[in-house]
Amino acid sequence: MTKTIQTVGVCGAAGTMGAGIAIVAARAGFRTIAFDKSPEGLSRAAQNTAAFFDKSVQRGKMDTRMRDQILARLSATSEIDALSDCDLVIEAVFEDIGVKKQLLAELDAVCSPETIFASNTSTLSITEIASGSTRPERVVGMHFCLPAQLMKLVEMTPGILTDPGVFATAWNWTEQSGQRPVRTQDKPGFILNALLVPFNNDAIRAVEAGVASADDIDRAIKVALGYKMGPLELIDLIGLDTQIRLCEAFYPTTLDPRASAPPLLRRMVAAGLLGRKSGRGFFEYENSAMFGA
Ligand SMILES: NC(=O)c1ccc[n+]([C@@H]2O[C@H](COP(=O)([O-])OP(=O)(O)OC[C@H]3O[C@@H](n4cnc5c(N)ncnc54)[C@H](O)[C@@H]3O)[C@@H](O)[C@H]2O)c1
Repeated sequence: MTKTIQTVGVCGAAGTMGAGIAIVAARAGFRTIAFDKSPEGLSRAAQNTAAFFDKSVQRGKMDTRMRDQILARLSATSEIDALSDCDLVIEAVFEDIGVKKQLLAELDAVCSPETIFASNTSTLSITEIASGSTRPERVVGMHFCLPAQLMKLVEMTPGILTDPGVFATAWNWTEQSGQRPVRTQDKPGFILNALLVPFNNDAIRAVEAGVASADDIDRAIKVALGYKMGPLELIDLIGLDTQIRLCEAFYPTTLDPRASAPPLLRRMVAAGLLGRKSGRGFFEYENSAMFGA
């Protein structure tokens, strides 16, 4: 029997994704423990989180009492032992198979045999990550989208050894948290990135070939297909360096030439044009903040 999830641990909670996932869990009513090896990063994330909920109050999405209750459910730590009574631990640490497997091994030593482990990996195999644990049947993929506190989609992936009951419990938790899960296979890029990485590269190659300006390419896609954001604006949001990393993860496994990094992308990154976070990518930005409200 799997017990109900009450306490959630988030590993890498000072990072871009982990901070947002911790917000999702605490906002949905779960006691949430934000764990990161960087204490400075955790205090920066705590300030951003408080500012996020202050903005939610200003926009009339919640009152101050609700904000205070959410923040009271959220604690931060750099000690992995603090995750000992978590029912679910979601990891969003560096996208490095060695780091993730090592973390799972450490969590094995700390958490109860009932604990469910979820990985937010974008490109790595859930089955391979699970091999870092002595309990691979309790490991699932739970891929949130950036920014997690605003985006509802979660791609959920069983590894080869994942227990169906564990997967169902993790799925239910995702729904209880107000997110919208979809089930995918353990394949590079799951659904979203497998489709988006080649498509976004096509848009970059169109700029490079002089088909049209970045602005006109994005406008054509938005007007014709009803997308809220064009592919080039989206690459600016996720980061041009991140797009290269995604290409480098996908191309060797898929050998799809559309998944290989376009030369223009590499030149722009070499020039420091990383997108929104550096103030300039395919477009220019005055405000690089993306924490949202
Ligand atoms: N950034 C995105 O757009 C995005 C979207 C979806 C999924 N992801 C996935 O989420 C994960 C995190 O990505 P990110 O962009 O948030 O990374 P990030 O570099 O912003 O954050 C990673 C955090 O993990 C912490 N960390 C690293 N090793 C740790 C360890 N052993 N124990 C505790 N903390 C540790 C770091 O201090 C850092 O705060 C990756 O698996 C990535 O593929 C990223």
